[in-house]
Amino acid sequence: MDQELLLKGSRRLEWAEAHMSVLREIGKKLNETGTLKGVKVGMALHVEAKTGMLAVTLAQAGAKVRLASCNPLSTDDSVALALKHERGVEVYARKGESHDEYYENLNAVLDMRPEFVIDDGADLITMLHTVRREQLSEVKGGNEETTTGVIRLKAMAADGKLNFPVMAVNDARMKYLFDNRYGTGQSTFDGFLNATNLLVAGKELVVAGYGWCGRGVAMRAKGLGAIVTITEVDAVRAIEARLDGFNVMTMAQAAPRADIIITATGCKDIVRAEHLSMVKDGCVMGNSGHFDNEISKKALESMASPPVRVREHVERYDLKDGRKVYLIAEGRLMNLAAGQGHPVEIMDMSFSIQALALEHLVRNCATMRPEVYPVPSGMDELVARLKLKAMGLSIDELTPAQKKYLEDWQEGT
Ligand code: ADE
Repeated sequence: MDQELLLKGSRRLEWAEAHMSVLREIGKKLNETGTLKGVKVGMALHVEAKTGMLAVTLAQAGAKVRLASCNPLSTDDSVALALKHERGVEVYARKGESHDEYYENLNAVLDMRPEFVIDDGADLITMLHTVRREQLSEVKGGNEETTTGVIRLKAMAADGKLNFPVMAVNDARMKYLFDNRYGTGQSTFDGFLNATNLLVAGKELVVAGYGWCGRGVAMRAKGLGAIVTITEVDAVRAIEARLDGFNVMTMAQAAPRADIIITATGCKDIVRAEHLSMVKDGCVMGNSGHFDNEISKKALESMASPPVRVREHVERYDLKDGRKVYLIAEGRLMNLAAGQGHPVEIMDMSFSIQALALEHLVRNCATMRPEVYPVPSGMDELVARLKLKAMGLSIDELTPAQKKYLEDWQEGT
């Protein structure tokens, strides 16, 4: 065994553990109640230190846990090793795994016959509803971590195809307000800067999508001194972007001026042939959405000679007309493929919601329908209170008279 790699993973887990105080509190509560004792949980998440601490927390609370990656490029091999050898978590993941290996690993998670699943992007749940249907009836519920996954699962439910209840962890306020905005905002530039070592200040930077992730990326790009342009398909969000002080235009208008293009839409074909035909020589492109289909690799491949790896996480495409463009991390989510994912304190909140949502499912699945459920607001409140405490912040409380005022429509002023 590679002892150096093991030590590195071990230290990374310790670091995450030390900075995830909310999850620690939730873990204590789960240990006391014993709700997760003996429960089989299959997980497909980004296998890195914060995820590792979620798996460890569930395992310490008595769950039987098996973990695979939800993306072929996002695994931290050092953490995977330390989880296996020091923390007793079964892990099936390797950074750079092939397409076939990726599905073999998801299959290995399903081989444990999980009663509950925790997914990020909905590939695991989709497999259960397609190629592993024979064990669908054994699954009592699932959690979904990300916007893309929730969209897929809502489509599945609308089609009448979803077979068990799913908690939309992504849609909890304590998740998307911080993870999607501040998490993606910071980690996108962790990945970008690590991959490129380029200056952001003074660059024309285009952000595709002004959802919570796009808002976070745009905010941080502005902070780093970029001249930021937003592309959107939602008219309301486009106005919001404009009033937040950004240029707003179509991708066709934005692409020719871009030094950097970052996609964060959750949709496909955002940068396609018609845009690639106009981008400037030297344009650097990267994606922070869940799947690697936002920047069309098919179009790039058809317009350029085979890519040349010019840095660890950057490939150069030489277009036939002589322009060169650069793609970060093969168009996969650069915050994890080229960076370390969201900051620890952010994932502390997201994974606390995950742990509580799982407990909720275990307790209530017998009476829940096969639908996508919002996370109960009490969980947001609990995690927020614990986080405030961890931050050393106090807030005011309503006085009895204020409470009455808010409930009494007759009182007026
Ligand atoms: N670390 C673990 N899961 C993550 C996610 N979904 N996004 C960013 N960083 C992560």
